[in-house]
Amino acid sequence: MSLQSGLPLFLGQLIRSPHKISAIAPSSAALARRMAMELPLDRTGPVVELGAGTGKITRALLEAGVAPDDLHAFELNEEFVDNLRSGFPNIHVHHNKAQEMDQLGLNNVRAVVSGLPFLSMPGSIQHAILRASFKAMGPGGVYIQFTYGPKSPVQDRVSEELALTYTKSETIWGNLPPARVYSFRCAVV
Ligand SMILES: C[S@@+](CC[C@H](N)C(=O)[O-])C[C@H]1O[C@@H](n2cnc3c(N)ncnc32)[C@H](O)[C@@H]1O
Repeated sequence: MSLQSGLPLFLGQLIRSPHKISAIAPSSAALARRMAMELPLDRTGPVVELGAGTGKITRALLEAGVAPDDLHAFELNEEFVDNLRSGFPNIHVHHNKAQEMDQLGLNNVRAVVSGLPFLSMPGSIQHAILRASFKAMGPGGVYIQFTYGPKSPVQDRVSEELALTYTKSETIWGNLPPARVYSFRCAVV
């Protein structure tokens, strides 16, 4: 799938569902590669991508060495799902909400990589997504999330409830808008 095919699709869906997309452009290749760099090297197993959209992060994960059969992409928007299925025929594309991840029986997950608009999600949804992610990963799992804001995209209350710690990347200026990558770990899995 090329950027040429992804950008018009992204803009079309942004006009139709701005509150669900919550971004002005697909992630840049620079941001997608920076997210893939956060994949833990000391774990194996499936990788889950949440909010795969036009597939920019999907492509970076495959280029970073994730085997197509190990990659599970979750996406809510039907047109993005169709595009992901035709662009990446060998990965698993789930037309499901991220918070439904625990109903699909995924376990021993290596990492969860999220392009979800986390900042605009209510705390209850953030909690459900993070809890399902850390349950699927087990101890030592990493939840990787980008954000455009100056601070962690996870609400303080959710962070306290799940005893989250995080590391934060440098600012990726080659993204519109500039973004940072947070890698969360959970002490209570
Ligand atoms: C900001 S866009 C990011 C798209 C792509 N990952 C990127 O970086 O360009 C957010 C994506 O998350 C999807 N999305 C929003 N809420 C979702 C949910 N609860 N479960 C799954 N996907 C969701 C939207 O349809 C959209 O494709």
